Amino acid sequence: MRVVDLILRKREGGPLTRVEIEGLVGGITDGSIPEYQTAALLMAIVFRGLDADETAWLTDAMVRSGRRVDLSSLPGVKVGKHSTGGVGDKMSLIVVPIVAACGVLVPKSSGRALGHSGGTIDKLESIPGFRVDMPMGECLAVLGELGCVFVGQTADLAPADKKLYALRDVTGTIESVPLIASSIMSKKIAEGANALVLDVKVGRGAFMKTADDARRLAGAMVEIGRRVGLPTRAVLTAMDAPLGRAIGNALEVIESIETLKGRGPADVTELSTTLASHMLVVAGVAADEALARARVAEVIASGAALDKFRAVIARQGGDASVVDDYSRLASTTAREAVPARQRGFVVGIDAECIGRASMLLGAGRERLDTPIDYGAGILLRASVGEQVEAGQPLAELCIGRHARAQDARTLVDSAFAIGDTPQPSRPLVHDVVG
Ligand code: URA
Repeated sequence: MRVVDLILRKREGGPLTRVEIEGLVGGITDGSIPEYQTAALLMAIVFRGLDADETAWLTDAMVRSGRRVDLSSLPGVKVGKHSTGGVGDKMSLIVVPIVAACGVLVPKSSGRALGHSGGTIDKLESIPGFRVDMPMGECLAVLGELGCVFVGQTADLAPADKKLYALRDVTGTIESVPLIASSIMSKKIAEGANALVLDVKVGRGAFMKTADDARRLAGAMVEIGRRVGLPTRAVLTAMDAPLGRAIGNALEVIESIETLKGRGPADVTELSTTLASHMLVVAGVAADEALARARVAEVIASGAALDKFRAVIARQGGDASVVDDYSRLASTTAREAVPARQRGFVVGIDAECIGRASMLLGAGRERLDTPIDYGAGILLRASVGEQVEAGQPLAELCIGRHARAQDARTLVDSAFAIGDTPQPSRPLVHDVVG
């Protein structure tokens, strides 16, 4: 079968068979199918979609395009966690040590910041010395010793997805439920966990702008998990405003440590508790969410979760004294407040604007090869629902060396919506699927 015939069939809304999908993924991986044909096929999929069978076959072919990690030598359930990405989303830094402190193994692989959303790997690398690029043997050793490990995504896991994602990024073909679902799940399945919790973000700062779209994505991923015997639960969570008050790598590390010390902002504490609890339930170590939440509260109160974070930082080459001395983390000398233009109530903080501003200050990257300034970012000084006076600081900009500060300032100013009356607070968790 010629590739062009498959493109034509999908363009007209027809189905692809398993063998055809395997052939396509094989050709994309080994480069025998030219990128212009792959791009045309991706665009046909964006418009025509894939059914549940096609999505599962695509995922499976992408998993088999590379290596699948075997964690069976380590006893116990291994739970994966993934977020579809948001602004101020430092959940992994908090949730991974909490769940490991509860006795469940967490192999956590993560990506880097791109565009307006941050990346766990950059946040961890803002801790002096922290290494995420360890050989597989060492990753397994850390996981076995401590119950958790943080690693960057390696090239040999789902290489077909790496190629497809890079092409989707430049051809306007990211926004497709089956393509996003198969992309995320292929990497998670290849990582070898036995159960998975997904944080599917919904709102202005997320891929999925509406709860209905997020529910469709969550349903597609849960179904892929079901078909391969990977119990998967998706938690739909709000990403209209940034999470917490810190946006930027070292700033988010500090907020994560504060949360592990029991002093985090309410939304960060609540969401990390919720996600960690779901992980304990899918791992089978807590009978229900209420018992799981109690266990999470226990390991925070006892300091066990913080000790776990300290231990994993040290084991991965990082300076664990940052936990007690934040001055050891990068910071910027240039700081500047963005004042409120008027008196009133903060009724919204646009997460996407704040994420873009943080990137312009030096905390993120427009392209994968842009260097990062670990101390740069934004500290929010007012939250949604708060009353502010004219001139009161809404945010503090931590300005990196190569920052586009003026553009960032304008974005932060425009991100805050101030009204005459407070809005009712919106739920952090929209739904749970699976
Ligand atoms: N994250 C991924 O890993 N893949 C997508 O397609 C979108 C978000």
